[in-house]
Amino acid sequence: MTDVPEDTALTELCAIRPDRLVAVRDTFGIDADLRVPAFGGRDDHVPEIDQAYRFNRDVTLALLAGFAHNRRVMVQGLHGTGKSTHVEQVAARLNWPCVRINLDGHISRLDLVGRDAVVLRDGQQVTEFQEGIVPWALQRPVALVFDEYDAGRPDVMFVIQRILERDGRFTLLDQNRVLAPHPYFRLFATTNTVGLGNLNGLYHGAQRLNHAQIDRWNIVATLNYMPRDEEIAIVQARVPQLADSAHRALLESMVAVAELTRNGFAAGDLSTLMSPRTVITWAENIGIFGDPALAFRLSFVNKCDEAERPIVAEYFQRCFDRELDESYRRESDEA
Ligand SMILES: Nc1ncnc2c1ncn2[C@@H]1O[C@H](COP(=O)(O)OP(=O)(O)OP(=O)(O)O)[C@@H](O)[C@H]1O
Ligand SMILES: [Mg+2]
Repeated sequence: MTDVPEDTALTELCAIRPDRLVAVRDTFGIDADLRVPAFGGRDDHVPEIDQAYRFNRDVTLALLAGFAHNRRVMVQGLHGTGKSTHVEQVAARLNWPCVRINLDGHISRLDLVGRDAVVLRDGQQVTEFQEGIVPWALQRPVALVFDEYDAGRPDVMFVIQRILERDGRFTLLDQNRVLAPHPYFRLFATTNTVGLGNLNGLYHGAQRLNHAQIDRWNIVATLNYMPRDEEIAIVQARVPQLADSAHRALLESMVAVAELTRNGFAAGDLSTLMSPRTVITWAENIGIFGDPALAFRLSFVNKCDEAERPIVAEYFQRCFDRELDESYRRESDEA
């Protein structure tokens, strides 16, 4: 390996470390007597705080273990349950710089590791190695989040095999350099599946992942659909105009419809289901259209297969005690 000149900027980076402890109870509103390290200042990479975000106890504790104890944490769960925002919102409250990469089938090894690029220097064109996101983040006090981890190509994901191990160094082959991780570099992932591919038909494009790699994640937290009261509280936080007591019954019915679609999906009656994200969108659309039935059709029913719309209309009828739309009535109902 060649000697690399000491980079003063990097030496300064190494000195950056958390300088305070924050109480989990006050900062995240969850019942735990824990204090976790946090940074004093905010830089451009610290996500904005979303005051309306409601933290799930188990997932928050898992993520905090990741930040405080340098554990590699993966958050798995159905779509639209708040996984990606959960990681960001924990980082936001710790002032921890956080970079989220959306993995997709076209992310290549070169994107992650780096590549030679032609740059202009003093009017001359020179070829220079430009670091990819992995070596860049590894040398900084940054939480790197692989979002949609199961969409990444498994052969490409091998790039991160070593950094999944705590203290795992990273070799830049083309550069003959071995990088040691910054003591406050952290790694997280969010995923819909647990690496077994698109088993339930909901996650087209999900890859089967290598289990030697899944094995390296120290903590796997799950964030699936939550109890009804919690889901209502989340919708109220997101759509404050429906947060008053006059709209409580409406929100109860909306979440009840969502639960019926989830049960219908589990029973094989429906091929799709309503995520908390869809419930929030429905609530927002009620603000635009006024009528819950019209907003429901535009937010969810039209996404369903035509053959399944009468079933969804029936769920609506059951929870709202009114018809969704005459055209969705089943032929058998009319007979
Ligand atoms: N606990 C919560 N508090 C406040 N808002 C929430 C919460 N959970 C989810 N949301 C909102 O729901 C939406 C979906 O969240 P997010 O994109 O994080 O879901 P996800 O689990 O990453 O979904 P996907 O699997 O599709 O990537 C966001 O607008 C988010 O703000
Ligand atoms: Mg997400």
